[in-house]
Amino acid sequence: MQALDTSVKIAVIGAGAMGSGIAQVAAQAGHTVYLQDQQAGAAEKGKAGVAKTLQKRVDNGKMQQADLDALLSRIQPVNNVEELADAGLVIEAIIENLAIKRQLFARLEEVCGEKVILATNTSSISVTSLAAELQRPERLLGMHFFNPAPVMALVEVVLGLATDKKLAETVYATAAAWGKKPVFATSTPGFIVNRVARPFYAESLRLMQEQAADPATLDALLREAGSFRMGPFELMDLIGHDVNYAVTESVFSAYYGDFRFQPSLIQKALVEAGRLGRKTGQGFYSYAEGAERPCPVAEPSCSATEQPVIVEGELGAASALIERFKQAGLTIIQRAGAGVIRYGEATLALTDGRMAGERAVAEGLQELVLFDLAKDYTQATRLAIAAAEQTSSTAVQEATALLQKSGFVVSRLSDSPGLVVMRTLAMLANEAADAVLQGVASAADIDLAMCAGLNYPQGPLSWSDSLGQGVIWQVLHNLQASYGEDRYRPSLLLRRKVFII
Ligand code: NAI
Repeated sequence: MQALDTSVKIAVIGAGAMGSGIAQVAAQAGHTVYLQDQQAGAAEKGKAGVAKTLQKRVDNGKMQQADLDALLSRIQPVNNVEELADAGLVIEAIIENLAIKRQLFARLEEVCGEKVILATNTSSISVTSLAAELQRPERLLGMHFFNPAPVMALVEVVLGLATDKKLAETVYATAAAWGKKPVFATSTPGFIVNRVARPFYAESLRLMQEQAADPATLDALLREAGSFRMGPFELMDLIGHDVNYAVTESVFSAYYGDFRFQPSLIQKALVEAGRLGRKTGQGFYSYAEGAERPCPVAEPSCSATEQPVIVEGELGAASALIERFKQAGLTIIQRAGAGVIRYGEATLALTDGRMAGERAVAEGLQELVLFDLAKDYTQATRLAIAAAEQTSSTAVQEATALLQKSGFVVSRLSDSPGLVVMRTLAMLANEAADAVLQGVASAADIDLAMCAGLNYPQGPLSWSDSLGQGVIWQVLHNLQASYGEDRYRPSLLLRRKVFII
């Protein structure tokens, strides 16, 4: 794959948040960049914004003034599309409107030569549809940067139905030469990231709606046990509920109302109330001056008695917990069994997607307390538990004491299928698996996209593989049974991988 030479001129149309950032990226890589905007003075303003940001790097000694001056001299604000005739690649980052974008691309076909590559930074409009009325639809593709473009590594290179694959390879290589991490995706609603990430928000919103826990607790669990950089509620507050809700609604309707993408009434209410998150000072949390973040719930301290931890059978994905028990100086007895931990009266087990009550009855487990998945049990600082209705408070306290002695803050959820980290991962992996199954992107590209675009601690597919084949499928299968809903149907791809002799 051959990248465009730096002698190729790049045009960026739309000098807003995204266009200015993309212009900076291309100029940093050594290209001359035309920056055009329909609004008078916007291109100059965009360039001034780039200068201001990079001046801070110069002031901090991270960049030479001469390099900044050279970079800025490569960004040339222009007034009209007609001035873009000699550009080899045009990246459009204007208003998110199909008709206006189509009009622009039709004009660009007239102005630029036959060899020009036309790229759109659209987040939600079909690349196929944008190309449909062009004379050369094969020369248009998506080049989807993430905000802020100079910081975020991911670029989704999106192929419409007509896009020339060689052209997409050139754009992929060019994005890589610009220091980005490109991935290929076919033009389908949400491309990769905006589709596969939906469950990260949706499952926590649902848990909150069902009063399993409050936002602060769910955020803390996904950070401290799940190793996500931010929890879903604080992230939605940062993105803005208007934006996040609109993306969910658009993906939901684009997939003809598939309940996997169902928007949340809780988020709708925030939008209706104008509580859009940080930008309005109030979302799930208050950002008013002096406002304090609510504390995540934690079980009160329970004292552990001198008794051994009995590990029965293989703990599978939770095996690393044994290391944690050892470090806490607990005596461990291992014996045959069905993968549970006995401590005093309590029986502890990793969630398999069933509610504790259902599982206790089905398996005849007395005093059952379920615990959640942790990305790394040796490092996690917090863990969720849930108990069956019939589990005694003594057993819950003993289970809590064991985990506290092993160094976890314990947050108890109401008895909810899949708890929070396991359930979120299962649904992320399921969505990723379906995207692979449907040929939207490769498994490697999806995992890369989720890490480079959203800072996930591991790609959902390789993470689910590392738990062992079948774990995620089982969780989804059980979630589907618990809710009786199609939303949790396991992807055929997971099913294929599980049913191998
Ligand atoms: P923005 O509102 O900050 O900037 C858009 C700019 O385009 C404005 O300066 C406007 O004057 C200009 N413009 C509008 N119509 C034009 C036309 N016909 N010709 C020339 N200039 C025109 O918008 P933003 O956020 O930069 O988004 C731009 C595109 O990037 C949209 O398609 C959006 O979906 C996409 N995008 C946005 C992301 C974000 O987080 N903001 C992330 C990834 C993609």
